[in-house]
Amino acid sequence: MELAIGTVRANQAVGEGLFVMSLDCHAIARNARAGQFVHVRCGPIGSSDPLLRRPISLLRVAGERIDLYYDVVGRGTRYLAGLGPGDSVDLLGPLGRPFALSRATRNLLLVGGGIGLAPLAMLADEVLSRGIAVTLVAGFRTAARVLAPEWLDPRIEYEVVTDDGSLGRPGRVTDAVPAYLPWADEVAACGPAPMLTALGRLMQDSAKPAQVSLEERMGCGMGVCLSCVVRTDAGVKRVCRDGPVFPLRALREVQWRQN
Ligand SMILES: Cc1cc2nc3c(=O)[nH]c(=O)nc-3n(C[C@H](O)[C@H](O)[C@H](O)COP(=O)(O)OP(=O)(O)OC[C@H]3O[C@@H](n4cnc5c(N)ncnc54)[C@H](O)[C@@H]3O)c2cc1C
Ligand code: FES
Repeated sequence: MELAIGTVRANQAVGEGLFVMSLDCHAIARNARAGQFVHVRCGPIGSSDPLLRRPISLLRVAGERIDLYYDVVGRGTRYLAGLGPGDSVDLLGPLGRPFALSRATRNLLLVGGGIGLAPLAMLADEVLSRGIAVTLVAGFRTAARVLAPEWLDPRIEYEVVTDDGSLGRPGRVTDAVPAYLPWADEVAACGPAPMLTALGRLMQDSAKPAQVSLEERMGCGMGVCLSCVVRTDAGVKRVCRDGPVFPLRALREVQWRQN
């Protein structure tokens, strides 16, 4: 984990309220793995306003460059959207536990909702070079928020699902999952809690390994403040330090059934 200053190379709008920010940041890029995140200070260098950093997953790492895919939802992400080439950003990372696939996996199914695609795209980048076939089923509210395929490795089989049917298959992303489950050796997912709940139910009787990356409100990002805890089979866990990636089964036993 490093405290580092990244330099913005580009900060492109890629959809309604959605941006990809590319930064030069060797200190973070050299150690980062798919599923990890950076804790971003969303204010000028040296300022502590706002006090809390904002966690953002890594979308891609290429050489010294890291890419972040983010949705403008409040003060912090609005600040990021106003940055341009040459601006500096205070970053802490990479943080959290990455995805860890079974050695036997040959066919990987990724299930993403909205900005939850970020860690999945990086996981695909990591495993495609090992000859693993990747299908990404991705759900978005509407066509204007769909991540264009240009942001993904062309070897990924990419199926888009939109809530309003304006692009791709209409409906919920989890509606598309059952068709791919027999093909998949393993599943990895990231997205809003209702999507993960639905996936948990779909895979309730499946023995296939599945991992999910959780998004919780965070304070310190380093395991100290306990603001990000979730209950699992193995007890209370900190999303920032023990996760954000957890086995689906561990969460399913306690969380999904409460919904
Ligand atoms: C491990 C992890 C990885 C993440 N990766 C990404 C990513 O790649 N791209 C991205 O856009 N966002 C990601 N998030 C969510 C992101 O951290 C929040 O959207 C961001 O902190 C909001 O900051 P803000 O100041 O703009 O909004 P705020 O003013 O803080 O909040 C605005 C709204 O967003 C909601 N919100 C804030 N934080 C979270 C959160 N952690 N999870 C869910 N809802 C939240 C609030 O409830 C509120 O409704 C991730 C979160 C975690 C924990
Ligand atoms: S954010 Fe502080 S313990 Fe997780």
